[in-house]
Parts: sequence; structure tokens; C-alpha cells
Amino acid sequence: MISEHMIKAHLKHEKLNIKIFDVIDSTNSEAKRMALSHDSQDGFAPTLLIAKEQTSGRGRMGRRFVSHLGGIYMTLVYVTEKPLIDAVSITTAAAAMVAEAIESVSEAPMKIKWVNDIYNDYGKVAGILAETVSMEDRLAVIVGIGINTGIPEFPEEIQDIASSIGELDGKEGLLIAKITDGLLRYAETHKDRSYMNAYRERFMLAGKNVDLIKGGERTGGGSVVGVDDNGGLLLLPDGQAEVMTVQSGEVSVRESKTK
Ligand code: BTN
Repeated sequence: MISEHMIKAHLKHEKLNIKIFDVIDSTNSEAKRMALSHDSQDGFAPTLLIAKEQTSGRGRMGRRFVSHLGGIYMTLVYVTEKPLIDAVSITTAAAAMVAEAIESVSEAPMKIKWVNDIYNDYGKVAGILAETVSMEDRLAVIVGIGINTGIPEFPEEIQDIASSIGELDGKEGLLIAKITDGLLRYAETHKDRSYMNAYRERFMLAGKNVDLIKGGERTGGGSVVGVDDNGGLLLLPDGQAEVMTVQSGEVSVRESKTK
């Protein structure tokens, strides 16, 4: 079971509050409550919220994120003066950092499905939900990460896509510390794009034919060319000759299920 000591033993960043909950609705919701209950004058130090179990884990696009005992459910929340536009690529940065960190503790190669789902060879092993809360002249950036570790069986609704990175045998603290240090380093500038190499190396959609989904509806489709430096998806739309950049939404691979 994860403890503050297990994380701090590996953490490089010194000014971090850590709160661990046995059970909570959602660590992202708790981070939002924290941000909303502070005004911008007395912001707060970066805080890492961890839950052993979530009763209302939230995923992207309003979906539920199944969060049974055994997985890693963490949210880093920090206050920044940077404008929202710089915070947007946190989502891409987080995907690269989570993939690299998982590889370093599990030794299994990870892939990234745009925009920020992490896959192993069998299915999705981690998801990221980045949110922001305006605090007068500042912004609280909330990065929630769910990692399936040591979960042998998933509920029917996600059995087809979910997978697990297996048991970490005490390396949970190291994994959490690596991700947190990476995110905090990025938070210091919001500008360094060096993580794009790690993202592109693991990008699993290049050359795939995909449907583009926005608000639960298919809005188009085409062939994936790559990702731009801001994490936008470069897509050659069906029947067209010019590549477009997709900034939001998600994609579904056409030929077969990604496993
Ligand atoms: C997704 O795959 O759609 C994103 C999943 C994000 C899940 C994490 S678990 C910790 C944090 N708390 C939440 O309610 N969601 C995020």
C-alpha cells in the first residue's frame, strides 16, 4: 500500500504536499474543491492527492473511470500565473511522462493513443484527465492520472480495452515520484517541448485510419499523419489533399480494435 514515505524517498521536488485517502469520490474533484476554496492571494503549494480507491473516478469526455482497490489514482494540483494557452499542452506532456515512467518501473514498452491514453500490447493501462480552475488572476492546473496496476480482471464494460501493467512489487512510490517530478519540472515553464520526442516515439496512430469523435458524435475521419509540437493531431481528412490539425476530441481506429 502506498505511503507518503514511499513517495518522498524517491521524489526530487522538495516543496510538495501529499495527501493520501483510503477512499474518495475522485482525486480530481477533491483538487477542484481545494482550488475553489482558496483565493488567488493565498494560493497553495503543489499538492499530490492519492486515493487507494475512488467511488466516482472521472475520465475524459464525461466518462467513468473504474477505480477499484489495487490501481494508482493520483492528481497533482498546482497554481500557476501562466495563461491557459500554455497549460493546454500539459495533457501531451503528461502522456509522455507517464509512459516513460511506467516503462522505467515495468520494463514493458508503452504506446500513446492520442491524446493521452497509455497502452501496452494488450490494451489501455493508464488514462489522464487534465483540468483547470480559474482563481482570479491565476490558474489551478489539475492533472489526474489513473494507472491499472495488478488488476487481474476488469468490469465487463471495459474488458475489451483495459489492461494492467501487473504487480509493481513495491515500486509504486518510485513510479508516482517519477511522474510527479516530471510534471512539476514541466510546470515551472510550461514551455519546454522536449517531451515531444518521447511522445512521438510512442505514438501508436501514425498511418492509421481513424474516426474523429467530438461530443460523443463522429465528426469526420481520415488518415493520421502525426502530431504537431503542441500535441495537435495531424490528420489527412478522407478525400482531401490538405492536412488539418485537430486540437480536441478523440479518435477511434477504424480497421480493428487497438489491443
Ligand atoms: C481517461 O482515461 O479518460 C482519463 C482517466 C483519468 C483517471 C484519473 S484517476 C485519478 C484522477 N481522478 C479522477 O477522477 N480521474 C483521474
